[in-house]
Amino acid sequence: MKTPHQIQFEAFAAAGGLYDERHAKLYADLADDLIEDGSFSILYEGVAHACYTPITIDKASHLKCHVLAPLAVLPDYQRKGYATRPREEAEKQLDADVIFVMGEPFHYANRYNAPHKVLPPVRTQAPLECWFARELTPGALDGVGDSTSNISGPYAAPLMWGHPSEQV
Ligand SMILES: CC(C)(COP(=O)(O)OP(=O)(O)OC[C@H]1O[C@@H](n2cnc3c(N)ncnc32)[C@H](O)[C@@H]1OP(=O)(O)O)[C@@H](O)C(=O)NCCC(=O)NCCS
Repeated sequence: MKTPHQIQFEAFAAAGGLYDERHAKLYADLADDLIEDGSFSILYEGVAHACYTPITIDKASHLKCHVLAPLAVLPDYQRKGYATRPREEAEKQLDADVIFVMGEPFHYANRYNAPHKVLPPVRTQAPLECWFARELTPGALDGVGDSTSNISGPYAAPLMWGHPSEQV
């Protein structure tokens, strides 16, 4: 059975585009660090892995929120729903109001489609169009308006929110 580190490394190493093996190591190490730090971790059927870390919306600190990262599916198993099923399972287990994720719209825009004005917890050059929210409690973000957010632990490192071209 592959470890979370192996799944993350192999997925990002094979992703191409902006990513190479240095990114793969960075994100695989992040996964290990998050697990060590107590973030929620889900390993699905030995082929998919994801971590979820608590994040606080400063103007709505009563909401239970998590941010998803990193997410990976082994190359041979991609485009078959293996990224979707562990997220469904994680959302059941987490009992959260909102899940945030930073990433490509083609991966996330459908599932994480709640309009919101919550800023990412770490300063980043990434466009806000890539910062998505999914309400697990319907209407959770209604009326929250503009807010900053906060995160601690390994995913609070500014490097992890940088553009891939600046990360290695
Ligand atoms: C991104 C990744 C986790 C998706 O895994 P997957 O098993 O192929 O995804 P699924 O089959 O469950 O599909 C999830 C969604 O992404 C979409 N999708 C997945 N790969 C896609 C691609 N290459 N192009 C366009 N859409 C894609 C699917 O259509 C689906 O959309 P929906 O939620 O609107 O139905 C996987 O490709 C991967 O590990 N890539 C390398 C690591 C990575 O890039 N992680 C994300 C960083 S932001």
